[in-house]
Amino acid sequence: MSTSFHHSRGRFIAFEGGEGAGKSTQVRTIVSRLRDRGLEVVQTREPGGSPGAEALRNLLVTGDAGRWSPMSELLMMYAARSDHLEKIIRPALDRGAWVVCDRFADSSRAYQGAGGGVGPYFIEAVDAAVVADTQPDLVVVMDMPVEAGLKRAASRGDTENRFESKGAAFHERLRDGFLRRAAAVPGRYRVIDADRTIEAIAADIWTALAEAFPELSHGG
Ligand code: TYD
Repeated sequence: MSTSFHHSRGRFIAFEGGEGAGKSTQVRTIVSRLRDRGLEVVQTREPGGSPGAEALRNLLVTGDAGRWSPMSELLMMYAARSDHLEKIIRPALDRGAWVVCDRFADSSRAYQGAGGGVGPYFIEAVDAAVVADTQPDLVVVMDMPVEAGLKRAASRGDTENRFESKGAAFHERLRDGFLRRAAAVPGRYRVIDADRTIEAIAADIWTALAEAFPELSHGG
């Protein structure tokens, strides 16, 4: 039996990474593998995941790159996160479900902190108040070279491209931010080389999950 970081019975997994790293595809694969085991899985995302947070998402991810300052973004991201935690994540963990979230607080540390320049002490103070003990049990960081990721993201051609348009230097800073965070908190983080085939990436992610959650290795 593995010990869970938060107070509750469920398991909380976050997927993180820069633009175009293929997170969403891998999230879908992991969610269906966990469901095949008969587990209750809540698949969700940030910014968003609850009706109030999705309304904030729309403000955050559309429009000009300069529409919001990094500080305004940080506060809105955590406003959305607070609602998401209260309405979706904590109730799911409390009833023992697995929560798989496409982006979580490390995106704020990377995009608003490392990329945008909001100070780490302020971010950690807000995080301690909002996320508190509902920290992810496992964070999968999907890492790939910035240029390749931006090319992949641009080929999607969607309108939620406000952060994509921030320039290569910004994206290099946030890639470094994810990697430094993962190195600083090694127990709960796994960095996956995302510049490979979908199948190779999926296999590594499943191995990471099986290591983090030994209960996945027996049965099913
Ligand atoms: P997402 O839909 O996951 O974008 P993508 O599919 O391109 O990975 O997330 C939307 C954008 O929001 C993404 O550019 C990253 C940004 N973001 C932040 O800047 N801070 C945050 O805290 C979160 C959760 C996301």
